[in-house]
Amino acid sequence: MCGIVGYVGKKSAPEFLLGALEKLEYRGYDSSGIAICNDKEKKDKVELIKKKGRIRVLRETVENFKDFFGKVGIGHTRWATHGEPSDINSHPHTGASGKIAVVHNGIIENYMILKKNLMQKGIKFASETDTEVVAVLADYLYDGDIFETVRKTALSLEGSFALGILCSDFPDRIIAVKKESPLILGFGNEENYIASDISAFADRTKKICRLDECEMAVIKNSEVSFYNFSGEKINKTITEIDWNIGSSEKNGFDHFMLKEIMEQPKAVKETLSARCSNNDILIDDLTKEYLENINKIYIVACGSSHHVGVAAKYAFEKLSKITTNTDLASEFRYRSPIIDEKTLVIIISQSGETADSLAALREAKHKGAKTLAVVNVVGSSIAAESDCVIYTWAGMEVAVATTKAYSAQLSVMYMLALHIAKILNKISKEKFEKHFNNLLNLPDLIEKTLEEKTKVFEIAKKYCQRDNVFFIGRNNDYAICMEGSLKFKEVSYIHSEAYPAGELKHGTISLIESGTLVIAVATNHKLFEKTISNVREVKARGAVCLALTTEDKREEIACVADDTICVPRIPPIMQPSLSVIPLQLFSYYVALLRERDIDRPRNLAKSVTVE
Ligand code: AGP
Ligand code: GLU
Repeated sequence: MCGIVGYVGKKSAPEFLLGALEKLEYRGYDSSGIAICNDKEKKDKVELIKKKGRIRVLRETVENFKDFFGKVGIGHTRWATHGEPSDINSHPHTGASGKIAVVHNGIIENYMILKKNLMQKGIKFASETDTEVVAVLADYLYDGDIFETVRKTALSLEGSFALGILCSDFPDRIIAVKKESPLILGFGNEENYIASDISAFADRTKKICRLDECEMAVIKNSEVSFYNFSGEKINKTITEIDWNIGSSEKNGFDHFMLKEIMEQPKAVKETLSARCSNNDILIDDLTKEYLENINKIYIVACGSSHHVGVAAKYAFEKLSKITTNTDLASEFRYRSPIIDEKTLVIIISQSGETADSLAALREAKHKGAKTLAVVNVVGSSIAAESDCVIYTWAGMEVAVATTKAYSAQLSVMYMLALHIAKILNKISKEKFEKHFNNLLNLPDLIEKTLEEKTKVFEIAKKYCQRDNVFFIGRNNDYAICMEGSLKFKEVSYIHSEAYPAGELKHGTISLIESGTLVIAVATNHKLFEKTISNVREVKARGAVCLALTTEDKREEIACVADDTICVPRIPPIMQPSLSVIPLQLFSYYVALLRERDIDRPRNLAKSVTVE
């Protein structure tokens, strides 16, 4: 949610800032803007351009501006939390003097009282945002010492804030501030950078330093100094990222989403190979003595990562025989979960920066649980704060709607379930090897399932104009319905909901009418007949049914469904890895046919770093 960037160097700040913002656009794209210190002549104000809409609107505006030149600047691409997307609500924000510009990722929770106090002093505000309070307060406090001004301002703020701050009286530097929202520094050749995400400057440097909680930095082109909120100088370590953040190009695909759907075999293979070797799974952090002490597992996440947890729960309980609960991170932390040192809390997050999941992690740690993160971004906040981390190696995921990271996360969860079952002697050596081999076969089976994409496209053409769609299934088929429905809503903008097939008749079936599309996921053979009965119930009320089942059930289900998509049959606990593929493709093709902004769906952001 929101991306901030900053540049201090000897080249064009606008050029760097626009390129960096384009790389961070996935974090939010309601509006964008940049501010610079124009050094052609000493100016008593920062100069800024900010526009509602995508970054290309900003780029066009900047490129038409004469003399908008500077070697120090900050930029922002917004996902609005306070105040609608508009030019005036765009960042950067300034105070009355125009000397100080601020970009912000996060939420200032006490902005109303601060704004009220400042307005009582006769100070005016231009926007509806919380962020403007930071700029106006800094402007009000400014006494010529910009560092102390920023520090006092930060101490007055409550909530989450990653800030980039520019002052026209100090045109050689940026001040960065971090509390809860991510902020990373990059160290280049006679130039330095700040950004919400490494991808903003990864093409320029691999030398980075993440600010930690309540830290500040003063960034010049030749030196960077770090401080805590008390103003004391602190030492920080510069590290070198040694991984390839992955291609952020479409490589010939029309959309990143389709590219990433097609990359899933590779994403799963890379993720598995990082931990699977010699017929074993290497997860040293979860030792026998630790696991023997565990009596409960919580899998906590948001969105699609939560759906991974729901699907994985079945594998965990079947294999490890440990009670496993799943929770939405935004609910988990406020329901006083029963947690102690015998609880393992697994946080799943593609970005590793989701505010709700980070807060749930902190709550779990506070209550004494061991925490394990399953994350796709190396070094992200959730990874850094967890007791142990298992990375997915899906590569950089650019499309807002996750696909390859989802599948990679699911493969990690199967590894974890198998590892725990083996370490605790809950399954025989033979059973372990059978599941282990099925796991290693997943990339090839996903590849095979992707071969159905043309058939899925044909079916999408038939159903792309529907309004309300139901996804129904039982057991872990229902978990896949949850993910299929979210994908479908996210990119097609068509309302849909996932429903346990057995529960529909208890009320919601009243919504079924002639022509309602019901997508029935029926891969679980033990429950196949039950699900078919539920399909008959909705068909009897006029529904149209698209069935998703395993190859061996094609004929049987064709008698009742209007259309059928099949996936290879594998043991039920890993079947979700194949069942999800056609639903991803179906969502993509329906969105394509409805001409949606597939990689940047309206109202969304890739990483939700506010609560
Ligand atoms: C998935 O397609 C969505 N973009 C969203 O639900 C996402 O899964 C959720 O915001 C969690 O993100 P995370 O995995 O980065 O924590
Ligand atoms: N709260 C700020 C705004 O609404 C920043 C939003 C964000 O970080 O997503 O402009």
